[in-house]
Amino acid sequence: MKKRNVILTVIAASLASLLAACGTAGPAATEASTPEPTPVSTPEPETSNVLVAYFSWSGNTAEMAAHIAEQTGGDLLEIQPATPYPEDYGECGDVALAERDGNARPEIANLPENLSGYDTLLIGYPIWWHTAPMIIGTFLESYDLTGVDVYPFTQSASMDEEQFANSMAFVADCAPGAAVHDGLFVRPSDTAGIDAYLAENGLAAGEAQSTYTFTAQETYFQRDGLNIYARLYVPDVQGARPAVIYSHGFGGTHASGSQYAEELAGHGYVVCAFDFCGGSPQSRSGGATTEMSIFTELADLNAVIDALSALDFVDAENIFLLGTSQGGAVSALAAAGRPEEIRGLVLLYPAFVLVDEANSLYQSAADIPDTTFFMWMDVGRAYFEPLLGYDIYAAIAPYERDVLILHGDADGIVPLEYSERAQETYTSAELHVLPGAGHGFYGSDADTANGLILDYLNSHTI
Ligand SMILES: Cc1cc2nc3c(=O)[nH]c(=O)nc-3n(C[C@H](O)[C@H](O)[C@H](O)COP(=O)(O)O)c2cc1C
Repeated sequence: MKKRNVILTVIAASLASLLAACGTAGPAATEASTPEPTPVSTPEPETSNVLVAYFSWSGNTAEMAAHIAEQTGGDLLEIQPATPYPEDYGECGDVALAERDGNARPEIANLPENLSGYDTLLIGYPIWWHTAPMIIGTFLESYDLTGVDVYPFTQSASMDEEQFANSMAFVADCAPGAAVHDGLFVRPSDTAGIDAYLAENGLAAGEAQSTYTFTAQETYFQRDGLNIYARLYVPDVQGARPAVIYSHGFGGTHASGSQYAEELAGHGYVVCAFDFCGGSPQSRSGGATTEMSIFTELADLNAVIDALSALDFVDAENIFLLGTSQGGAVSALAAAGRPEEIRGLVLLYPAFVLVDEANSLYQSAADIPDTTFFMWMDVGRAYFEPLLGYDIYAAIAPYERDVLILHGDADGIVPLEYSERAQETYTSAELHVLPGAGHGFYGSDADTANGLILDYLNSHTI
């Protein structure tokens, strides 16, 4: 009994710091109020390795290309046919149809000798006869595009998706070796859609700057009859956006996520930060702290994923989970449970130590008291019991997509080795160690974390 008291004191001290680091104290822990929309900053164009090449007969693609070149800082090249197409629509149609049916490669008047110096090619064209004009094939096949990132952009009279898909297949066929990314198919006047596409693909110049204003909204989701309080940060842009769900640590609240949420929303991501049921005495969600465990939190997170995926401003194909400390462990479990739905996973100092802590506290379930008072927070048997003998690493392993893990090498609560083991457990995980950072990222560590998270999100959004 005496021995247990000593251990409890040590663990309690640990958790005291854990609580502080997970959002109930520290610079990021102020209770959020509705943020003012952040100002839009103007991207700084810079000398570019980006080429924006396009063919346009009547000017619509040219309009898109000009905007794209401006936003990316890329060089602009209009592909001009050696033999101009007839100005008459019908006659032009006849020529274009014959070219398509003959899989022709019409000559280009101003073909650059090479594209050296460019590693990114945005290739624009109108839909002609349900696919790309054949002159696009001439252009692409004139170069070895191995390793070049190619981003097609197009539009048409009908905006028919199948015709767009045909054109994408044509571009891919004509650019063997290139990385042909999902293309952009919007009307030329939809500059918000164009900008969103560029931002999602990391193509906007001045990418490090905020480019979106956003609005914060409060809402409630439900799980097993309990309310889950959530704060949504929604970029002021039309259409469905990729989304990040932030899970807070033990004893924390949604508010600890605001330093990430505001940054990510400013870069075009919908962010949902919520309070776990019984997650802390300050939780605005239902449930008691004595009923909380990482598995009730897992159920909460699954309910949030379900609800968020159904919102029309959320792109359900691009749902990312971001969790700190215990919220990281819970996010890892959620990703493992629905690996096809979760596009990516970011873990900040995830608390995989919890299992070892529970096992060192209690030999068996019979040893666990009904209620244990940790700091100002009662937790129940439900918290410790399922952790006894639990293999959390086996549980998270089924998530095989890329995982980003950030951990400070001065973390006194969750030692770095727990993230090193997670990295080894995952099929594909990158562990960034933040020198000197403790349990909780503040100041320049938070800035570093935000930069790494954004890079990861931008390169994993499809
Ligand atoms: C030769 C030709 C073929 C076309 N074929 C299609 C087509 O298959 N589907 C479609 O929706 N629009 C088609 N259009 C319409 C163009 O895609 C549309 O007018 C587009 O905005 C033109 O872009 P531009 O101004 O850059 O040339 C065709 C236009 C021309 C001239």
